[in-house]
Amino acid sequence: MCGIIGAVAQRDVVDVLLAGLRCLEYRGYDSAGLIVVNSQGQSSRLRRVGKVSNLVCAAAKTMLLGETGIAHTRWATHGQPEEINAHPHVSTNIAVVHNGIIENHELLRKNLQDEGYTFVSETDTEVIAHLVNWEQKKGGSLLEVVQRVVLHLHGTYGMVILDIYFPGILIAARSGSPLVIGCGRGENFIVSDPMALFPLTRFFLYLEEGDIAQISCNDIIIIDRHSNVVQRRKIESHLEYDSYDKGVYTHYMQKEIYEQPQVIQNILAYRCKNGLISFDELDDSAYALLKKAQHIKIVACGTSYHSAMVAHYWWESLAKVSCDVEIASEFRYRQSVVRENSLLITLSQSGETADTLAALRLSKQLGYLGSLSICNVASSSLVRESDFALMTNAGIEVSVASTKSFTTQLVLLLLLVTKFCSLKDKQSLVEQDTLESLEKLPTYMTQVLLQDILFSELAKELSEKNHVVFLGRGDHYPIAMEGALKLKEISYIHAEAYAAGELKHGPLALIDTNIPVIILAPNNTLLPKLKSNIEEVRARGGLLYILTDTNSGFVNSERVRIIFLPHLKDVIAPIVYVLPLQLLSYYVAVRKGTDLDKPRNLAKSVTVE
Ligand code: AGP
Repeated sequence: MCGIIGAVAQRDVVDVLLAGLRCLEYRGYDSAGLIVVNSQGQSSRLRRVGKVSNLVCAAAKTMLLGETGIAHTRWATHGQPEEINAHPHVSTNIAVVHNGIIENHELLRKNLQDEGYTFVSETDTEVIAHLVNWEQKKGGSLLEVVQRVVLHLHGTYGMVILDIYFPGILIAARSGSPLVIGCGRGENFIVSDPMALFPLTRFFLYLEEGDIAQISCNDIIIIDRHSNVVQRRKIESHLEYDSYDKGVYTHYMQKEIYEQPQVIQNILAYRCKNGLISFDELDDSAYALLKKAQHIKIVACGTSYHSAMVAHYWWESLAKVSCDVEIASEFRYRQSVVRENSLLITLSQSGETADTLAALRLSKQLGYLGSLSICNVASSSLVRESDFALMTNAGIEVSVASTKSFTTQLVLLLLLVTKFCSLKDKQSLVEQDTLESLEKLPTYMTQVLLQDILFSELAKELSEKNHVVFLGRGDHYPIAMEGALKLKEISYIHAEAYAAGELKHGPLALIDTNIPVIILAPNNTLLPKLKSNIEEVRARGGLLYILTDTNSGFVNSERVRIIFLPHLKDVIAPIVYVLPLQLLSYYVAVRKGTDLDKPRNLAKSVTVE
């Protein structure tokens, strides 16, 4: 996590750094800080606990001027979110901002203490600052010093280093945490996400794993992991910047929920033409790989893991190909058996999730046929390192709670499974059926969103509860899980999801008159089974909220609230049923007054494991 920005210019860079930090805040918001140095070598450092706005307020009251600077917004890993632990960390003349985790920091700290260094913070980053200072005493340019320093570091880092005595130069090093150089005119920048530089430049050089770069106003030198000077391709970004505008909405999450029908309409218009699904990103070799695949392995985290779980049902029921789904942080640390002709699919909104990226890298050693990533950020590490990638085209998602990235992932997965069916069997009717069902999806989504007053009313009751249970069966079990995750992360209410058939194996003991139970009950073949599960809960006095079709036979009664949704074809039902859960969580969080776009302890992009 953590956002980094650095600048070398011939003008004051304080505003550039602060504006960049505001854009990067989605990566963490426990504390923020910056250091700037002017050409006379005078430096000023400012750090504040909490959001970037606290730093901005403090900066307005402080004399800060400098043409070279680095800044950071933190998601705490080592050490509490206190000012003393905020970046940049300084060792005499060396200042460092860092994203990642230095795993051998304790040993390095001990060695540096033996050398006479005093530590003022609990962070692993302060070790880097002292280590650079210590290595510098042995001589060489700052670039050479950093080349020697990284040999001591175990773990992950995206870091930027500044020597206060020699302003006008920044050294950046990448290993496990992304860094991108923004190329300006007579000024250059380094950042953990190019979007933070959109007002300044559209030209970027992506550092690769093991790269170390020296950045000055007019010059960029990049050394790769083998110590060779290398050129990285300059890429122009065409991403929209104005998506950061909340428009008429109060919160980004609200905006992103309501954007879903339009975003999905656009995806369908772009991907589905003349009754056929097309993936412009995939070439013949990608299709050959898909055709060869006899097993699908999907790896992801959080909300992306939930969409993978829905796809698991589709791969097996529609495409008749075996599929298994695993949480990336589990997959990467266990010994797994790779089935013959397995295709690895990674799912991620950001494309920078550390565990998902590590899982992809591991898969390359394990004998998978190849890797396909489904992602929302075209320039992300995951996309660049996968054999093939499909973009979800959800547009920028700012809110920490994923909404439109989830439904767009589901649409992409459904299109992919469907395309796979046609590749394997030219006579397959699945493509025609899926496209017919998807055609009406945006309209159904809009119909659900139009009922928002109802969800805001229901949220009144839920916001007073301490625990909520979500139930679903089949491909709605992962939707129940996603509903529980949404409620937890933005309203801080404890929520759990269960496959309804599992209730009597333990969770039923939780049910009493105080526990609301939200049940996803689409009118499909599992409905009779689900009805039995509902009766089991009702008999124990649970307060039921049933999301269902108009013709599924439920009626409102005491302690049973029915929320009617449109009648849907099975294949698109999960994509629609998640919307009421997103709205409910949103309105509960609004009532509770949480900082719902930036919930406590979380960050949008989880770039540390
Ligand atoms: C969900 O609302 C969260 N934002 C989180 O679970 C997220 O889905 C997870 O961290 C994975 O992120 P990714 O899709 O960017 O890889």
